[in-house]
Amino acid sequence: MARRINIDRDWQGAMDAAVEVLADGLPIAMPTETVYGLAADATNPLAIARIYETKGRPRFNPLICHVSGIAMAERYASFDPISRQLAEAFWPGPLTLILPLVDGGPIHALATAGLDSVGIRAPMGFAGELIAAFDRPLAAPSANTSGRISPTSADHVDADLGDRIALILDGGASSVGVESTIVKVEGGAIRLLRPGGLDAADIERVTGLKVVRQAAGAAIEAPGMLASHYAPGASVRLGADHVVPGEALIRFGNAHVAGAETAAIVLDLSPTGSLEEAAANLFDFMKRADASGAGSIAFSPIPENGLGEAINDRLQRAAAPRD
Ligand code: TXA
Ligand code: MG
Repeated sequence: MARRINIDRDWQGAMDAAVEVLADGLPIAMPTETVYGLAADATNPLAIARIYETKGRPRFNPLICHVSGIAMAERYASFDPISRQLAEAFWPGPLTLILPLVDGGPIHALATAGLDSVGIRAPMGFAGELIAAFDRPLAAPSANTSGRISPTSADHVDADLGDRIALILDGGASSVGVESTIVKVEGGAIRLLRPGGLDAADIERVTGLKVVRQAAGAAIEAPGMLASHYAPGASVRLGADHVVPGEALIRFGNAHVAGAETAAIVLDLSPTGSLEEAAANLFDFMKRADASGAGSIAFSPIPENGLGEAINDRLQRAAAPRD
């Protein structure tokens, strides 16, 4: 069983234990503002291999490497001016930049899947301070079994991976609730590889540049972005205006959904219609709907603006045919 430490109650104990386990080349579960990460030393190939093993990931996808800030990131990657502007504006925070690796840097090829670029981000709060203390980059995908819904609480991690990891740091519920926004600057253009916890409109506001969306059907640039991902056990039905009796219902903004009284469970992502609140609740509510035993989860429509883009992206993946 994983040892569990609450970082609010024992910040220093959590820090010391985390550094010790990481130095032993083992992954830990750590809270970030987006989702809980399964973090290991990105310079240690055995430690990185243990991430894949723990998640049961079928393939070696490139992982996001987490740093304490721009100064640390510069040891591993080179910044073009636009990426630098983005890091200055949004780090620490839910933004991952794809940047060229510096030659001969310490990040192991197992973390980057042998690419000549790296996905890099500075997380907020305890995670950032832990990385500064450890003074090495941490590779960290979400702390869940491959293909399952990302965890936004220590309980989520414990239920899924508790018997496979040494240490879970409990930092309460993730404040953002969906994974980071991933962008790549190329030829002066900002390409959105994954919508996420940072609203693309904020990137446009800060840079004055239009964020370029991936054309539908384009080759998968961010290799972890497979259709059937984030899958609950139940099937997922989107854009529902009615409930099939026995379905679980997850609605938004107090939407009227016909037959709601016949649902196995009714949850509202944000009764007041806040997309930030909806993102923070999304994965937890999907798990709760799943736990109701319903064979299908119906979602009422979610607006596509702001964080709605990331929410709808995750829902479409959850609803995609499974293989
Ligand atoms: O919020 C997050 O980003 C969370 C927390 C833990 O920080 N992490 C996360 O990591 O979502 P992960 O490993 O599940 O997602 C990594 C994504 C994948 O889609 C991967 O393909 C993409 O980042 N990625 C990483 N390096 C890349 C690169 N060099 N080029 C293109 N895509 C890359
Ligand atoms: Mg994931």
